[in-house]
Amino acid sequence: IPVLRPRPVLWQSRFYNPFVVALVVITTVGILAMIVGLLIHFLAFDKKTYFYHSSFQILNVEYTEALNSPATQEHRGLSERIESMITNAFRESNLRSEFIRTHVVKLRKEGSGVIADVVMKFRSRKRSNRGLMKNRIQSVLQRLSNSGNLEISPSNEITSITNQDTENFLTQECGARPDLITLSEERVIGGIQAETGDWPWQVSLQLDYVHHCGGVLISNSWVLTAAHCFRSYSQPQQWTATFGVSTIRPMLRLKIRAILAHTNYSPITRDNDIAVVQLDRPVTFSRNIHRVCLPAATQSIIPGSVAYVTGWGSLTYGGNTVAALQQGQVRIISSDECNEPAGYSGSVLPGMLCAGLPSGAVDACQGDSGGPLVQEDSRRLWFVVGIVSWGYQCGLPNKPGVYTRVTAYRDWIRQQTGI
Ligand code: ARG
Repeated sequence: IPVLRPRPVLWQSRFYNPFVVALVVITTVGILAMIVGLLIHFLAFDKKTYFYHSSFQILNVEYTEALNSPATQEHRGLSERIESMITNAFRESNLRSEFIRTHVVKLRKEGSGVIADVVMKFRSRKRSNRGLMKNRIQSVLQRLSNSGNLEISPSNEITSITNQDTENFLTQECGARPDLITLSEERVIGGIQAETGDWPWQVSLQLDYVHHCGGVLISNSWVLTAAHCFRSYSQPQQWTATFGVSTIRPMLRLKIRAILAHTNYSPITRDNDIAVVQLDRPVTFSRNIHRVCLPAATQSIIPGSVAYVTGWGSLTYGGNTVAALQQGQVRIISSDECNEPAGYSGSVLPGMLCAGLPSGAVDACQGDSGGPLVQEDSRRLWFVVGIVSWGYQCGLPNKPGVYTRVTAYRDWIRQQTGI
C-alpha cells in the first residue's frame, strides 16, 4: 500500500502559490502607484490659474497729483497698503491656499477721492465651480472695508479676466517684467543672456541698420539714450530703432523722427550725456515691448543696492558687439568712492552715477552706450536710474561703469518730451 505522504500544505494551497503571491504583490503595488499618481495629479497638476479685476474706492485718501505717477512715495505707499490689506485678507481666509498675488495696476481720481484698479491671481482645481469661487472672493473683499487704516468702500464688482487681459493691464503701465505680467510668485534673473520679454523696454539704435547704441523706451514714442551716440551722426534719417532681444532679427523696426541731444553735452568732461529720440510713430505696447518707469527727481539711489545693465555691447574690451541681448547684475557705487584716487579721481560729476562690482568683471562695454541701468522697487516695478555713458576700458577693478544719473535730468526729460 503506498503511503500517501502528505505534501507540504504550503504547496498545496492555491493561495500560497508563489506565482499567485507575486501576482498579488505586483497588482497591489501597481494599484498603490496609480492612487499616488492620481493624488499627485489632482493635488498639484490639475490646477489652473484665474485672474480677477476689481476697483476699490479709497474713502479716506484725497487724490493728489503725486498719486498719478508710480515713481512717487505717495503712489508706492498707498499701493503697498492696498496690496497688503488684500493679501492679508486672503491669507486669513479660507482662500489662503488659492490666493497667489495681487497688484494695484492704477490709482485714479474719482471726485476728490481715489479709485484703485487691482488685479488678483488665484490657483485652484480645474474642475472647481467658478461662480462659487467668485462669491468666495467677493465675500473676502467685502470684509476689507472694516480692516486696516484705509477706508475701502465695499468692492462693487469683481470681474473674471483672462491672462491676456491681465497682461494688457500691466503692459500699459510702466516697468513690468515677465514675473509681474503673469503675477507669478518667484522672480528669476539668471545667466547673462536675456530671454524674450525680459527687458521689454530695451531699444537698439541702429545706424544704417547696424547696432550702434542702446536706448530705453520711456513712453510709446520716446526713447532715452546717451548724447555721445550722435556725435558724428546727428541726422534722424540715418537711424532706426529696433525692439526685441535680437538685433539681427528684431520684432519691430521703426524710423526716427527727431533726435534731441542735451545742448550742454561735453565730449571732454562727458557731462550731460543724455538725449531723447522720438520714434516715427507710437508703438503699441505688448508683453515684449513696453516702457520702463522714470524715477522721481528726488528718488535717492542707494549705494550698494542691486541694479541691472543690459545691452548688445562687446563682452570684452575691444571686442565686437553681439546680436543677442546680454544682462549683467551690478551694484550702485557712491560717487565719493568712485572718485577716489584709485578710481576716477574726481571725474565723476554730480550728473553721473557709478555702478559695478568690486572685482570688476561685470560691466557695460563698447556698444552698450545709451542703454539702461535699471532697479526694481518694492512693488517689483523697474525704474531706469542710469544711462550707459563711459568707463575706463571695461570690467576692470576700481574702474566701474559710469552712467548718466537719470534723476538729475528728470526735469530736462520733461521739458523735452512732456513725460
Ligand atoms: N562709451 C561706450 C559706448 O559708446 C560705453 C562705455 C561704457 N564703458 C564701461 N566700462 N562701462 O558704448
